[in-house]
Amino acid sequence: MKQEQGRVAVVTGGGGDIGGVTCAKLAEDGWTVVVTDLDLTRAREVAAGITASGDLAEADELDVGDPAQITDLVTRTGERFGRLDALVCAAGVEPPQNLADLDVEAWALTLDVNLRGPALLARAALPWWTRQRSGALVNIASRTWLGGGHPAYAASKAGLVGLTRSLALELAPIGVTVNAVAPSFVRTRFARQRGDESVLDAYAERVRAATPMGELVRPEDVANAVAFLASARAARVTGEVLHVCAGSQLPLFVS
Ligand SMILES: NC(=O)c1ccc[n+]([C@@H]2O[C@H](COP(=O)([O-])OP(=O)(O)OC[C@H]3O[C@@H](n4cnc5c(N)ncnc54)[C@H](O)[C@@H]3O)[C@@H](O)[C@H]2O)c1
Repeated sequence: MKQEQGRVAVVTGGGGDIGGVTCAKLAEDGWTVVVTDLDLTRAREVAAGITASGDLAEADELDVGDPAQITDLVTRTGERFGRLDALVCAAGVEPPQNLADLDVEAWALTLDVNLRGPALLARAALPWWTRQRSGALVNIASRTWLGGGHPAYAASKAGLVGLTRSLALELAPIGVTVNAVAPSFVRTRFARQRGDESVLDAYAERVRAATPMGELVRPEDVANAVAFLASARAARVTGEVLHVCAGSQLPLFVS
């Protein structure tokens, strides 16, 4: 029997590069995975890949910027499976705007998707978690929570860390863990918001060269961290931010 068999996880942004690999890793560990995304076609492709390998997954449409859709999705999932164990919030947007060109709509979208979405998902899951007296919320933040990204994005991810730590305290008495994973740059479709392939090649090389391990982080690295934090093995780990960044969080000393 697989370790997490019988437990149900909802992943947002599951049609994305990190989200998709995370869904596959969770399913491999035995979770029944509800792969959700704004892009239902991509969510379906990810779910189909999982079921083709003999693991359990379904696809569902979810715009995490829409509070009503969040309520409906969580209700639908809970009723369908009779439980809801983990929420993994991987949906994210990063409009490539600096301060001078920052517009109000893009600011609102970024905060709604990256920050309000996880909060509303957790609120919707609360009745299930309260009944079960267990649960796990894993938010995908970013190294930019410490600064360095586009302002709206960095603010949303810093807010997500604040949300993670606050909910960890609030939900600890009912046995629910809340953690964040903060990856450094991962070369995914997300990164294409920064520019074309040559811009990305140059950026990726700068990040790689500045990374103590001399390697870029891969979606699999993020997925493994998420799978641990969602699992029963991490049942006493809460309020943490796990930096998946090949050593970039370490102060660099040149001897
Ligand atoms: N790629 C990186 O360098 C990097 C680094 C740190 C953190 N992250 C975070 O990792 C997460 C996944 O990013 P990725 O690199 O796999 O990018 P990606 O673009 O491949 O995936 C993002 C997914 O989010 C979905 N999405 C966007 N808006 C949505 C909405 N309103 N509702 C539901 N789904 C929506 C997209 O359809 C897409 O499938 C994001 O939260 C991102 O901020 C990425």
